[in-house]
Amino acid sequence: MSQDKLWGGRFSEPTDAFVERFTASVGFDQRMYAVDIRGSIAHATMLARVGILTDQEKQQIVDGLGAIKEEIEAGKFEWSIKLEDVHMNIESRLTDRIGATGKKLHTGRSRNDQVATDIRLFVRDEIDVILDLIRAVQKGILDVAEHETATIMPGFTHLQTAQPVSFGHHLLAWFEMLERDHSRMQDCRKRMNQCPLGAAALAGTTYPIDRELTASLLGFDKPTENSLDSVSDRDFAIELCAAASLIMIHLSRFSEELVLWTSSQFDFVDLPDRFCTGSSIMPQKKNPDVPELVRGKSGRVTGHLVSLLMLMKGQPLAYNKDNQEDKEPLFDTLDTVKDCLKAYADMVPAIKPKKTHMRHAAARGYATATDLADYLVKKGMPFRDAHEVVGKSVAYGIRHSKDLSELSLTELQQFSATIDHDVYAVLSLEGSVNARDHIGGTAPAQVKKAIARARKKLG
Ligand code: ARG
Repeated sequence: MSQDKLWGGRFSEPTDAFVERFTASVGFDQRMYAVDIRGSIAHATMLARVGILTDQEKQQIVDGLGAIKEEIEAGKFEWSIKLEDVHMNIESRLTDRIGATGKKLHTGRSRNDQVATDIRLFVRDEIDVILDLIRAVQKGILDVAEHETATIMPGFTHLQTAQPVSFGHHLLAWFEMLERDHSRMQDCRKRMNQCPLGAAALAGTTYPIDRELTASLLGFDKPTENSLDSVSDRDFAIELCAAASLIMIHLSRFSEELVLWTSSQFDFVDLPDRFCTGSSIMPQKKNPDVPELVRGKSGRVTGHLVSLLMLMKGQPLAYNKDNQEDKEPLFDTLDTVKDCLKAYADMVPAIKPKKTHMRHAAARGYATATDLADYLVKKGMPFRDAHEVVGKSVAYGIRHSKDLSELSLTELQQFSATIDHDVYAVLSLEGSVNARDHIGGTAPAQVKKAIARARKKLG
């Protein structure tokens, strides 16, 4: 009855048409075709090496799989949901092409270890692309930061002007977040780089297979340790989505800043027109759509992370069909992260700071108030008293619409007689940033050193 199925032997009626569609994954897992073929070639090579296939059979299989790959890439391959997934579509086509030898490929293997291998191979390649894209964004950040070590902007806490900082220094904060993202992705790659092939359905196989060989043919560090774990573990996918979510959260925070900074209220930076769109009704508008979309897309990636966590929750050992649901969230995560990193790699070098606006904003917000307090402390006043004196000076400045640096010495001396002429060096924006002259501080001299250290990390 069910002869069109590779597993039809024990069945007495055909699969329900709805069930066929409901259980099929070929619509989305066909994009793993190249890694599936790569895994099958390694498996067949191993089978021949241990004497389960003859060299001639192995060669037929390898040639057949190569031809199928070409068919797929030429758009000539007919995917069928009757054959459920990418694995059975390719295997069935192999038998069509080379005859009975094709049926030997699945010896000592199950789709369970096959799919676990395919996803790892697929994700591993994608991680390499993501690692390069992170580096590209980081390089863009350094290229901009290099020109902006002495550009002064307000630094914020609670989105209220806090202290002046170098714009280059602010950019380097983004670099650091991405540096951790890069190392998280590398960790994830390292941990997942073990080969499940040989675990078969769940318990291993009765054939004298050589797992070390398949692992090394596929560039894995070693075979996985436990067959049950090998076919059911998807924590590498969860880990990838967690690392990807953090990338997206970081990009979302960058995006939020770009959205704020391009607004006419801040007006700190300009984004080239090619990264923005207009409004169909308001002719004056130039909307920062790219950062906004990146910010929006952080939601779907974090959503995928939660989907995968919930997918695993409650699954008994070993493989369960639930795991077929891992692919769509995983693939969409990879696609989204790559697109967003690519957008940032293109956009960051094109960010144009509006230095005078930044400077005015820093000069407006009493950003050097802490410097005045530190000045008083250095003259012997306890910090709490100094805080009080400066608080009163700021209140006076607000009443008279003057920044601290615009108050005359007599005005300042109303609040403390200790204040002298040398205070103006401290109240200047340059004086303020230059004074924070230690590792991790915002002094332009330190920012230059930080950029040099960061460049080394990029190699
Ligand atoms: N399409 C399946 C998946 O993605 C492949 C493994 C199916 N194995 C099975 N015994 N039904 O998980």
